[in-house]
Amino acid sequence: MSEQVHIFDTTLRDGEQSPGCSMTTPEKLRVARALVEMGVDIIEAGFPIASDGDFDAVRAVCREHPEANIAALARAVPVDIERAAASLDGHSRPRIHCFIATSEIHLKYKFKKSQQQVLDEAVKAVELAKRFVDDVEFSAEDATRTETDYLCQVCSASVDAGATVVNIPDTVGFMTPDDYAERIARVVEAMEGRAEISVHTHDDLGLAAANAVAALHAGARQIECAINGIGERAGNCSLEEVVAIMRVRPDRVPFHCGVDPTRLYAASQTLSQCITFGPQPNKAIVGRNAFAHEAGIHQDGYLKHPTTYEIMTPESVGVPASKLVLGKHSGRHALHQRAADLGYGDLGREEIGVLYKAFTRLADARKGLTDNDIVLLLEQLGFSRVGEGVTSGA
Ligand code: KIV
Ligand code: ZN
Repeated sequence: MSEQVHIFDTTLRDGEQSPGCSMTTPEKLRVARALVEMGVDIIEAGFPIASDGDFDAVRAVCREHPEANIAALARAVPVDIERAAASLDGHSRPRIHCFIATSEIHLKYKFKKSQQQVLDEAVKAVELAKRFVDDVEFSAEDATRTETDYLCQVCSASVDAGATVVNIPDTVGFMTPDDYAERIARVVEAMEGRAEISVHTHDDLGLAAANAVAALHAGARQIECAINGIGERAGNCSLEEVVAIMRVRPDRVPFHCGVDPTRLYAASQTLSQCITFGPQPNKAIVGRNAFAHEAGIHQDGYLKHPTTYEIMTPESVGVPASKLVLGKHSGRHALHQRAADLGYGDLGREEIGVLYKAFTRLADARKGLTDNDIVLLLEQLGFSRVGEGVTSGA
């Protein structure tokens, strides 16, 4: 039986705080609309203490989406928690997300505090947040470099103080799937079902999505992620990747979520228009090459049946259509198809032979051939569009 997983989107918080990603309130509202339309469970709309702009953006997202579960981030200090509470004031489904670092490294170099001091501050923070809202998430920053017994102790104390969700961030992207799963299993056991376990993975080793999925198997039921995987340094777990993994591999990942996968591409495009960069071309699911085929063998297989080289249809994730990219690796089959698509009819074997020779010469010399280049080539060779005269070349 497939179990429900909550998707906590942090595009507007962890994502927004990374280089090139800061957004104005109208831009944040555009992205929030895409998130609501897609069906994410929780939107982390900002870090209100960070700036007046962040505070206003959280308020604006709450105003425009009165039914959505909206989270605001706060360090485990009263001034942050009070500011987060004020930004969410009057909202129907507010969550305060408070965090404090728990690893030896952070305690020693960042705080110069003892484990007991940090534990006490975590408890006080959750108690204070609880005075404003029922739904309080506690995060142990740098949890994955925290000694596990102590991590369980802090998480337990935060739940005793009223936390409803306990998040175990891999803040520095240090985990491997098996290591993360072991730690999550220990926390799940210690929580004894008293709180939902959340995971927040960073992609420093390119394992963010794999680690999040491993954590589901260990008992986590909330994934924190961001559109296009934006976030601190190498980014957060990519929302589209975890959603697609659950869809494509239910045999191995028997979990489901409320996100409509056909909205993934549109959300990715919306975000790209609001920040300074889009996803890398070969980005899984939403990159411009994710459904593009250039190699002749692949194009031939794809044209015979798309399942030969695609594990999901582009439509299933909202991508307009697969692309056959014509370049020096392409074959006759794809060229034949493109000439037909461009209106030059069903060219015969010999005609394709002529066209293919000229095409490979051009493709060897130039990258990134466009449909216009193919049309020019066809016309130079004397082909014309069906209905405009002869279709055969000179
Ligand atoms: O990476 C991290 O630890 C965070 C926390 C604030 C949840 O972003
Ligand atoms: Zn983070």
